[in-house]
Amino acid sequence: MVERAGRVEGKVAIVTGAGSTPGPGIGTGKATAVVLAREGARVLLVDLHPERAAQTRAMIEAEGGTAEVFAADVTRAADCEAMVGAAVEAFGTVDILINNIGRASLGTVVDTTEEDWDRAFAINLRTAFLAAKYTVPVMAAKGAGSIVNIASISALRGDGTVAYSAAKGGLIAMTVDMAYSHGRQGIRVNAVAPGHITTPMVVSVSQPGPRAEFMNTLRSEAGLLGTPGDGWDVGWAAAFLAGDEARWITGVTLPVESGVLSVTPLMMAPHLRAVPDPGE
Ligand SMILES: NC(=O)c1ccc[n+]([C@@H]2O[C@H](COP(=O)([O-])OP(=O)(O)OC[C@H]3O[C@@H](n4cnc5c(N)ncnc54)[C@H](O)[C@@H]3O)[C@@H](O)[C@H]2O)c1
Repeated sequence: MVERAGRVEGKVAIVTGAGSTPGPGIGTGKATAVVLAREGARVLLVDLHPERAAQTRAMIEAEGGTAEVFAADVTRAADCEAMVGAAVEAFGTVDILINNIGRASLGTVVDTTEEDWDRAFAINLRTAFLAAKYTVPVMAAKGAGSIVNIASISALRGDGTVAYSAAKGGLIAMTVDMAYSHGRQGIRVNAVAPGHITTPMVVSVSQPGPRAEFMNTLRSEAGLLGTPGDGWDVGWAAAFLAGDEARWITGVTLPVESGVLSVTPLMMAPHLRAVPDPGE
């Protein structure tokens, strides 16, 4: 049994995208759900693939925590309304919402199709809008709540993912606007901007081998700390913002990125050049 620090003891959380793409490591939503449960929250684990969320529930239950799985397509309003209803029915209320669903897609404005653009906005922004739309009234009715949106440093620095970056930028703008609109209702709204972390989703889009290892090393070396980051780093940050320790923090975007936003690329050149390139 894991000892509980109780940072969110007695609270009820919804985590969207609480499963994880299959593979080694852990996704940000899964890690956040596990951390929240360790810290005393009861968690509704929402995912398009309920079998993924069931794995998260198994991990939570193995540690003595409480979680339920809810299958939903969070791009759909009816699913979001039902999701909030399920949390209230299972656990009595909603105190915390973690908007975690997202997926990067490469492309410039020239080669991104209208369909790509709409899909990126549906997955990365509409999900957060709809989940919040049905959660905020529950929080407002009790005068308390905390929402954490999982954004990305792609919203803050160019990386060739125009639709994803624009959608994540929209998520940061939505964070600030919601923090304004719902502050007087006792609802805090913050974002986390993960950097070059390695999650199963990242691993799944590259062939295993020297090239993937090279990219992994570059992801570490690009940061000031020179160490790898993962889903847990995002989970701890999100859980902090979700809980009452952050009671006077709202409207912020917390980068979790080993300091890549604090340096000019030129300064990192010696570290990056030192990594041997295995070739294509
Ligand atoms: N992995 C990274 O390097 C990285 C970097 C920056 C930001 N992020 C952000 O972190 C978040 C999670 O990334 P991850 O790598 O852990 O991803 P992941 O694919 O492992 O987890 C996302 C989960 O969301 C679920 N999901 C997708 N669409 C859904 C929908 N419509 N309805 C319900 N569930 C749905 C998936 O089934 C999956 O289990 C995303 O918002 C991503 O943009 C990741």
